[in-house]
Amino acid sequence: MIILGIETSCDETGIAIFDTENGLIADQLYSQIELHAQYGGVFPEIASRDHIKKTVPLIEQACDQAGITLQDLDGIAYTAGPGLIGALLVGSSVGCSLAWALDLPSIEVHHMEGHLLAPLLDDDKPEFPFVCLLVSGGHSMLVDVKAMGDYTILGDTLDDAAGEAFDKTAKLLGLGYPGGKILSELALHGDKTRFKFPRPMLNRPGLDFSFSGLKTSVRMTWMKEIEKEGYNEATDKDQLVKDIAASFQEAIVDTLVKKCQRAMKQTGYKTLVIAGGVSANSELRLQLKNLDKKLRIKSYFPALKYCTDNGAMIAFAGAMRLMKKQNKNNKIKAYPRWSLEELKQT
Ligand code: KG4
Ligand code: ZN
Repeated sequence: MIILGIETSCDETGIAIFDTENGLIADQLYSQIELHAQYGGVFPEIASRDHIKKTVPLIEQACDQAGITLQDLDGIAYTAGPGLIGALLVGSSVGCSLAWALDLPSIEVHHMEGHLLAPLLDDDKPEFPFVCLLVSGGHSMLVDVKAMGDYTILGDTLDDAAGEAFDKTAKLLGLGYPGGKILSELALHGDKTRFKFPRPMLNRPGLDFSFSGLKTSVRMTWMKEIEKEGYNEATDKDQLVKDIAASFQEAIVDTLVKKCQRAMKQTGYKTLVIAGGVSANSELRLQLKNLDKKLRIKSYFPALKYCTDNGAMIAFAGAMRLMKKQNKNNKIKAYPRWSLEELKQT
């Protein structure tokens, strides 16, 4: 079975082709980062317009890369949500129109299910059941994954998502957009013990997250430091930014790791999966590997290029759904908000 995957939920146009016998046979990605950088965040209307320009040419490129034509496809999977409504509508309109024209099934894919299943693209893949830490720009969740489609949310974010906290802190420090990756690179050269930022929600039971207090604490520290007597921007700023970046990252990673530890204890599972943009973070990867040894569990991460948004995870999730004869719809669907738990009913 050969499935085309279309991802246009935010600021990346991702197109890929997954063959259930040969694996991933094409993978194309176009990032709109440069278009949005001047606004310091994603400008939704610009995102939709750019997806319109890029989606069809990237589908052609993907077919060329795979050495197939559209007639060889068995189904078309597209991200139906959650995400920006205009951006989602581009992928769903193109996906469904192609499916109608080719008389193929179209499969609506939940963006976060795509992230959650991305580690299964690897040769060394996790087996169900597992706990998944889903950490992206819009979500921070711990999910009990009993099987594909059987998801129970154990913990969710009460305010900012982990990626959002990285991006907002990076913006405060003047690091540009999207700041998560830039901040984590600077953190490598900073002193993570210089500032002790709060570990949100660790003093309370449960698995929910909240990162807005941490963000405020970073802001107050930053203001205090740059207003200190004797502060010299030319000589002190570089190290201050690196130290704040490292201390902030340590607080967020520590919180995520401790919540994972709690979720593993609560479920008794031995497998932990980490996915979404923040799973690319090297400090998080390192500390979760240490948790493996401590708890005698095994954690799995997607390959770095499949941590952030991509078409491969959508093509793969679509193929899995089609094999189970699920999520076939053939209607243009776009859901800006869509809970993972609702997938149980599809
Ligand atoms: O999954 P993703 O591509 O998009 C959403 O579905 O939201 O995640 C993007 C998020 C951004 O907030 C970005 O700053 C963050 O992932 N991110 C990182 C790193 N790479 C990407 N955060 C921390 N460290 C990184 N290395
Ligand atoms: Zn994403």
